[in-house]
Amino acid sequence: MTDWSGLALQHISDALFITDRAHNIVWLNPLAEEIFGINAGEGRGRPVTEITGIEQLTPLLEELHEQGTPSEPAFEKVETVIRFSGRRYFFKVAVAPVSREGVSIGALVQLTDITRFYEMEKFKGDYISIISHEFRTPLTSVVLGVEMLRQGLLGELNERGEEVFDAIGDDCHRLTKLVDNLLELSRIESGTIYIQAEPVDAAELVREAIRPLKIQAEKKGISLLTEVPEALPLVAADFNKTVWVLTNLVGNALRYTEAGGTITVRIRVGTWRLYFSVQDSGCGIPPEYRDQIFEKFIQVRGPARRKGGAGLGLAIAKEIVTAHGGEIWVESEVGVGSTFTFSFPLFRREEIMG
Ligand SMILES: Nc1ncnc2c1ncn2[C@@H]1O[C@H](COP(=O)(O)OP(=O)(O)OP(=O)(O)O)[C@@H](O)[C@H]1O
Ligand SMILES: [Mg+2]
Repeated sequence: MTDWSGLALQHISDALFITDRAHNIVWLNPLAEEIFGINAGEGRGRPVTEITGIEQLTPLLEELHEQGTPSEPAFEKVETVIRFSGRRYFFKVAVAPVSREGVSIGALVQLTDITRFYEMEKFKGDYISIISHEFRTPLTSVVLGVEMLRQGLLGELNERGEEVFDAIGDDCHRLTKLVDNLLELSRIESGTIYIQAEPVDAAELVREAIRPLKIQAEKKGISLLTEVPEALPLVAADFNKTVWVLTNLVGNALRYTEAGGTITVRIRVGTWRLYFSVQDSGCGIPPEYRDQIFEKFIQVRGPARRKGGAGLGLAIAKEIVTAHGGEIWVESEVGVGSTFTFSFPLFRREEIMG
């Protein structure tokens, strides 16, 4: 009779190990032998971290054994250079418990080779970064030219001409923002985001962030309010980047709130943290999108989607907040409004921890 499961294990495109409770190898498949340059006989009884060079396996396996038998496998992405071949691999690592007659006897370690995807992702990142740089310079001169024409510095425009140049000006503005966001994101993704945290007055952050948006709110017939307690403690923040986050949250609120609505920017002080929130009375966000919108290029489907923007603002905001040691989330009800909140560590905590 054909041993189908044996055949499957021979041909599977993942490297597989079964380890005992002490994380030593008891079994490995042919692909694991090939990638790590050992045969099954040599591998048996040796620590799986030693053979694979993947240190991160220890905490994953320990957690797995501590929890007993979790229903979900644990995943992690790791980079490793294989000693035997000198090749650099990126693996998605999954560990799952192995039990016999209800007793946990070890774990199945599964290494999926994602090197190609990883490199493609990186190439895409570099490509975006180069393209946005190349876009920026010509865009600046287009913006300047349009501005000069619009102001009549190169001759009077008729009414139609003014309209056309207004529209071009708006599009240029959108394009500039997109290019800037793409650049910011590629900096974040390449790990070169640089947070210069200093003691900052939170009220000043809010003032600075909403100043440029007041006119926009007025034009749209939306009240833009602030509720900021007096005598606030200082926060540890990068001033410009935090202003950027707040401006984007208020910008979103303006975009997704109809005339007559209200936007309130609040600060609340907790024991260790300070909370900034932006509440709007806009269209709201359906529950299934509430985590997703913090990923890049994710926008809620529906009529609101056609409001311009590329779906980058919240992804960047999340990176900035996380880099500060804070968190960001949204509470929302469709048709009622949304409240975006992010927390920052208080400066005083940093001092105590010294
Ligand atoms: N205050 C809000 N009310 C309702 N929906 C919102 C709100 N803020 C964000 N969203 C939803 O989340 C999506 C992602 O927001 P994000 O700021 O990342 O991108 P964007 O505003 O569409 O584009 P960009 O910020 O790149 O200009 C938006 O497209 C919108 O669908
Ligand atoms: Mg946005």
